[in-house]
Amino acid sequence: MSLLVKNGRIITADADYHADILVKGETIETIGRQLPVQDAEVIDAAGMLVMPGGIDPHVHLDMPFMGTFSSDSYETGTTAALHGGTTMVIDFILQTQGKSLASALEEWRSRANGNARGDYSFHMAVTDFNEETKKEVRHLIEKEGITSFKTFMAYKGALMIDDRQMIGLMNEVKQQGGLVTAHATNGDMIDYLVAKHRAEGKLSPLYHYLSQPEITEAEASGRFADMAGYTGCPAYIVHLTCEGALNAVRNAARRNQQVLVETCTQYLLLDASLYEKDFEGAKWVMSPPLRERKDQAALWSGINQGIVNVVGTDHCPFMWQQKKMGEKDFSKIPNGHPGIEHRMELLFSEGVNKGRISLNKYVEVTSTNAAKIFGMFPKKGTISAGADADLIIFDPEEEHTLSASSHHMHVDYSAYEGWPVKGKVKQVLLRGKLAIDKDECKVEKGYGKFVKRNKVNGRL
Ligand code: URP
Ligand code: ZN
Ligand code: ZN
Repeated sequence: MSLLVKNGRIITADADYHADILVKGETIETIGRQLPVQDAEVIDAAGMLVMPGGIDPHVHLDMPFMGTFSSDSYETGTTAALHGGTTMVIDFILQTQGKSLASALEEWRSRANGNARGDYSFHMAVTDFNEETKKEVRHLIEKEGITSFKTFMAYKGALMIDDRQMIGLMNEVKQQGGLVTAHATNGDMIDYLVAKHRAEGKLSPLYHYLSQPEITEAEASGRFADMAGYTGCPAYIVHLTCEGALNAVRNAARRNQQVLVETCTQYLLLDASLYEKDFEGAKWVMSPPLRERKDQAALWSGINQGIVNVVGTDHCPFMWQQKKMGEKDFSKIPNGHPGIEHRMELLFSEGVNKGRISLNKYVEVTSTNAAKIFGMFPKKGTISAGADADLIIFDPEEEHTLSASSHHMHVDYSAYEGWPVKGKVKQVLLRGKLAIDKDECKVEKGYGKFVKRNKVNGRL
């Protein structure tokens, strides 16, 4: 079956032109004007932008965390992602301390297999690096196509690893052709501040924010960069939020080290004043917390300077009832917020339509760079002959308003309730199949495939 996307304005990370795209099966066959095509289904994209499907490399679906599970399953999470123009996500497997990486992979597969509508892959979060874990790294990279290893420098007593383990992991991952990523905040400092605030009876969500000051992130980002520089391991900082942490990355760049950086939509658009809303602030309790306006400015300019390479979401939703687990103590509020559905439209509206970033940069940070960094380019992340036909057809002018009453995420509040957006995803193709049309999801549960990834080198 052929499909012709006609008359659209094609935007990639490095091009902007009008042409038609012929899709055969799951891939793009050819791109050109007046293509001699017969018997193809036609999508008229006149007046629309045609861009690569979004890739969100930071989501947590159906994840056991802080005594509960994140509320989006693979089905609901990838469905919401598709509605918002994200055709692929990378989720995090969490190793249980004392157990193998293989058993964690099995557990995550049991939740994901046959349930996703959008494509997905996994990062492996190593929470217990030892001689046994070390032996598993090669197999994951070579055989399973899982080439990125997540570390937590915080969540002390739960997920955090120490620097000894970090160095050991980096040495092994480097040797096998993978990448180490980090939640880079200082877990000991945060642990101290959380305990101090609790002891003083300071228990509202505001104290979640005050327990993770900028220095906790700047310090750990610098330390992570130093360890990666020392071992020569490809390195990527997830959900970077602030100027101090960006400066640590700049310091590494001065010695010709590239530390790759992801920020998330919420750190570009929301700020810490939301924690002053008493318990309602729990909606935005996430780690690291929202920061200041000066940090938002630093992140936008970091994108344009090429220091911030990716914008993800760290989608980790919890129902309001789940958030209430911490009504009397901020340290018990499950950390995370919903965002998977709105990344592409919000970044377009606030970034492109408000003149903060170019269209090409938009594609670069929402899709292309993630595909390159995580070993999927050019199969994913661009529009070219031979690539997977993951396309979004986007109206840059249509205005709408975000709300929990209309979103598709399985969560009963919106972090962006009432937010006006200019720019809307109209249609989505996933591997050649019309996945979203007129606000309806057209692919079945199970259509989403696990994507095996290639080895990486940590450079863009
Ligand atoms: O608050 C957050 N970010 N929750 C998800 C886990 C993580 O640290 O990414
Ligand atoms: Zn994190
Ligand atoms: Zn996360």
